[in-house]
Amino acid sequence: MSDVSLDVRPGEVVGIIGPSGAGKSTLLRVIAGIESANSGQLNLCSHLYDFPCDPLRLHKPWPKTTLVFQSLCLWPHLSLRENVLMPLRQQMDMSKIERAEEYLEMFQIEKIGSRFPNQVSGGQRQLFALCRALSLDPDLLLLDEVTASLDVEHIRTLREVITDRSKQGVAIVFVSHSLGFVRKTANVVVFLDRGEIHENGPVSILSDPKTDRLKRFLFAADELNEIE
Ligand SMILES: Nc1ncnc2c1ncn2[C@@H]1O[C@H](COP(=O)(O)OP(=O)(O)OP(=O)(O)O)[C@@H](O)[C@H]1O
Ligand SMILES: [Mg+2]
Repeated sequence: MSDVSLDVRPGEVVGIIGPSGAGKSTLLRVIAGIESANSGQLNLCSHLYDFPCDPLRLHKPWPKTTLVFQSLCLWPHLSLRENVLMPLRQQMDMSKIERAEEYLEMFQIEKIGSRFPNQVSGGQRQLFALCRALSLDPDLLLLDEVTASLDVEHIRTLREVITDRSKQGVAIVFVSHSLGFVRKTANVVVFLDRGEIHENGPVSILSDPKTDRLKRFLFAADELNEIE
């Protein structure tokens, strides 16, 4: 990854798109302080991180910055409900636990919370990982492949939640292969390929791309009727 520069402000919703292996997940992990870049700086909520650094020694910005991993990273030995509530108990904040209950109901997964991660579908696991992150009430929410296993109704609920959170000043950076979702949800689009930002700007770049690389990418999506 080289020369990647990203500025995300409170309330902004940034959608990262790009081919498999482009570096989208890597970028989110660097922002979350889980992986180090070889050089550069990260300024998170007035805290400056200088790269390279040892991610193990880094004071993680969690939970102010929270990442939903592409692989979800649910604890297999805990019930799904406990996966959501355990980090909140560490925070000793009862209002966040109440908020978690609300999110579970909003995504209609409250009745299956006693099951373990291996006892539900991929989409249901994804919803629990999402509720865990949302309940922590972060200032910066990072969502990797956020729509990957979700059905259209849950995607609609997710869009409503993202809009609501951004209105409350939460900055959201998400990765999605669903260009329709990106177009309807993001304010800013970043097109990443081979570790470089080839084009970024308002969602209008999805209908009027400037670079040949993004044009080619969108042409492939168009063939699949990905963009309306
Ligand atoms: N654990 C790893 N070890 C070595 N290389 C890795 C590892 N994870 C990713 N990479 C490499 O880093 C690059 C970026 O990977 P990354 O997972 O960030 O891509 P991505 O854009 O998120 O792709 P996808 O859309 O498939 O999720 C790829 O070239 C990939 O092969
Ligand atoms: Mg990825």
